[in-house]
Amino acid sequence: MSKVKLSDGSYMPIEMHRVSTVHPIRLIPVEDRVAALDEAGNCSYNLKSEDVFIDMLTDSGFNAMSDAQAGAFHLADFAYAGSESYYRMADKIREILGKERFVPVHQGRACEHMLAKAFVKPGDLIPTNFHFCTFQTQVRLLGGDLVEMLQEKGMVTGGEDGFKGDYDLEKLEKFLKETPLERVPMIRIEAGTNLIGGQPISMDNIIAVSEIAKRYGVRTLLDMSLVMDNLHFIKTRDAKRRDMTIREIIREMADAVDIIYFSGRKLGFARGGGICMNDEKDFLAVRALVSCYEGFPTFGGMSSAELEVMRVGFDDTMDADVVSQGPDFIEYMVEEFRKRGVPVVTPAGGLGCHLDADRFCEHLGRREFRAAALAAAIYIVSGVRCMERGLSSEKHEDSICPFELVRLAVPRRVYTISHINYVIDRVTWLYEHRGMIGAMRWEDESIETHLFTDYIRPVGDWREKLAAEYKKANLE
Ligand SMILES: Cc1ncc(COP(=O)(O)O)c(C=O)c1O
Repeated sequence: MSKVKLSDGSYMPIEMHRVSTVHPIRLIPVEDRVAALDEAGNCSYNLKSEDVFIDMLTDSGFNAMSDAQAGAFHLADFAYAGSESYYRMADKIREILGKERFVPVHQGRACEHMLAKAFVKPGDLIPTNFHFCTFQTQVRLLGGDLVEMLQEKGMVTGGEDGFKGDYDLEKLEKFLKETPLERVPMIRIEAGTNLIGGQPISMDNIIAVSEIAKRYGVRTLLDMSLVMDNLHFIKTRDAKRRDMTIREIIREMADAVDIIYFSGRKLGFARGGGICMNDEKDFLAVRALVSCYEGFPTFGGMSSAELEVMRVGFDDTMDADVVSQGPDFIEYMVEEFRKRGVPVVTPAGGLGCHLDADRFCEHLGRREFRAAALAAAIYIVSGVRCMERGLSSEKHEDSICPFELVRLAVPRRVYTISHINYVIDRVTWLYEHRGMIGAMRWEDESIETHLFTDYIRPVGDWREKLAAEYKKANLE
């Protein structure tokens, strides 16, 4: 019960926890926010956390720990080799995901690094429902590429389909028929799908992809980083699975695939990552690389304390109230924005509420960094840090960036409904003044691959004018 019905008939998400450890936050004056943006090259990743009022950049490593997780910290066995913490975590993986072989690494992209290095060679092609930027970059650096196979319904920001992360099965089958299979080291599935607004994939679709993969003898790789949200959506949107427990749903999903990897910064509420599988040969290939790049395979670049935290985080994840906390808050934001006419990705997905920057800033051109400009403008009028998901986190001319989004991430158990209501209010104010948001441009056009931290600059002084208008409104 993470939603309550109010006496006027409306629903409101409610926190299914009480708070016992807090971290103070502060809102710096609006002029200082413009100065902080300057220093950060207008890239929200470069802002200092102390200059951020509400941090909606990401949930990664930023979800709040439970009391049980904090307690588990002290169970850590820091032995370099054969740590008890590793064996406890490996047992948890066996219990929940049913995979016999587990290797920890320091975060999600380290899983991708190991997997790409183990299996990808120049000229290889990897089907995926949708790409994630870190995996795509790793595969390209090795001379391979991803081939996206998302159904058309996922390529639009509107609509109500509950599973916009689904694979186009016909496209996959055709691709496998026409491509020499020695060039297809794996079929990747992302559950849920980060770059299209946290949209989930259905269980039936995962199972269908897995059956096709088996027929062609290609291994399946499941990215479970965002699986918590996906589990919630399967439970609430798939009539066949409504009565299943979260534990049963995740096991059904895990049983359908060969290799699973995850960012433990998301799944597990910790700061780490992991890869698991049953196949001994594949395991040995990955483990050898972990020894080389990450650390001894029983800690793999993670602190043993974080391994313990992640283990208990897996248990927390089996609780439907924990799993639903993010999506329920996000759904509330999406509905409130819709009432106010603010353009958002629908239906509500996981990870965060995604603003449709193409519609929000339709007065700007496609190449004027609508999402990056919107993210900067939101920070000016609220102190809220969000993430642009568009041109400035992709290669400039990349056709793979179909739309410009701004993500207001909702880290689990971190913010309360009053924080959420503040964000809704300030973004709505900005929408009413959206004509003031101006264009951006790269500071250095020559950079090939833009991952997260590159500087962009405003065209003109629109940020200062927006700050002055906001000040005039006398809201702080
Ligand atoms: C779907 C997905 N895969 C992989 C990653 C990479 O994980 P990490 O940030 O821990 O490297 C992320 C991070 O956002 C993600 O959302």
